[in-house]
Amino acid sequence: MNVLVIGDVVGSPGRAIMKKALPLVFRKHEVDYCIANVENAAGGFGVTKDICDEILDLGVDCMTSGNHIWDKREILGFVDLIPQLLRPINYPQGQPGRGSHVGRGKRSGVPVATLNVSGRVFMNGAMDDPFRMASDEVDRLRKEAAVIIVDVHGEASSEKNAMGHFLDGRASAVFGTHTHVPTCDHRVLPKGTAYVTDLGMTGPYDSVIGVEKDLIIQRFLTGMPGRFETAKGDARLAAAVIDVDPETGRARRIDRMLLSEDDLKSY
Ligand SMILES: [Fe+2]
Ligand SMILES: [Fe+2]
Repeated sequence: MNVLVIGDVVGSPGRAIMKKALPLVFRKHEVDYCIANVENAAGGFGVTKDICDEILDLGVDCMTSGNHIWDKREILGFVDLIPQLLRPINYPQGQPGRGSHVGRGKRSGVPVATLNVSGRVFMNGAMDDPFRMASDEVDRLRKEAAVIIVDVHGEASSEKNAMGHFLDGRASAVFGTHTHVPTCDHRVLPKGTAYVTDLGMTGPYDSVIGVEKDLIIQRFLTGMPGRFETAKGDARLAAAVIDVDPETGRARRIDRMLLSEDDLKSY
């Protein structure tokens, strides 16, 4: 079965390219289940109820997130009402929301578990040990699903890389998010876990990680705080298709994509 995983969706450019690309990508790759990281889907900061509904309507089955999850105040009113919306499982106890979800493939009906975990290296905030918490949750999820997909949201490539190897043979895939910069180290690890350090951003690439480039350049030049505005140009879908054996949960293959509007014309 093919699982499509989508890197951090940034603002309206990210949502617009997703809307154009998903029908084509779903058809071409016979996608059975789709996971998208939505932590920046609302103007670069967090996500709203309407945007969650919009993304689910596009055929996304589960939404993961990360450090931007609480940016929009309204999230507190709905995070517990959408079971397909996750925040990292190792956020402090007492926070609302949940870190895992089990859904079913739209074609096969096969159970698919999604786990969202955050790295701690160069990440702000109190967090529990991502390795031990991911390990315990994978053991628990295995009772419900052979196919387990993990979004590790983190800054340090080493930490994400270690998580991939740590879960090798126990998760079907471990994909990194958060940096908004795609990496080309996608591969199936020795014991059958598909891995990529970062999918990259689904959003405007004529930018600095999704933000208007001139604002960020000024910030580096002057060291002064400034406003952040989502950029607009050169939107791309950053994603990977993972072929998983639904019986064993092992990955057979992972293919990465970074699709522009031009690419979609001949897709
Ligand atoms: Fe992000
Ligand atoms: Fe993030």
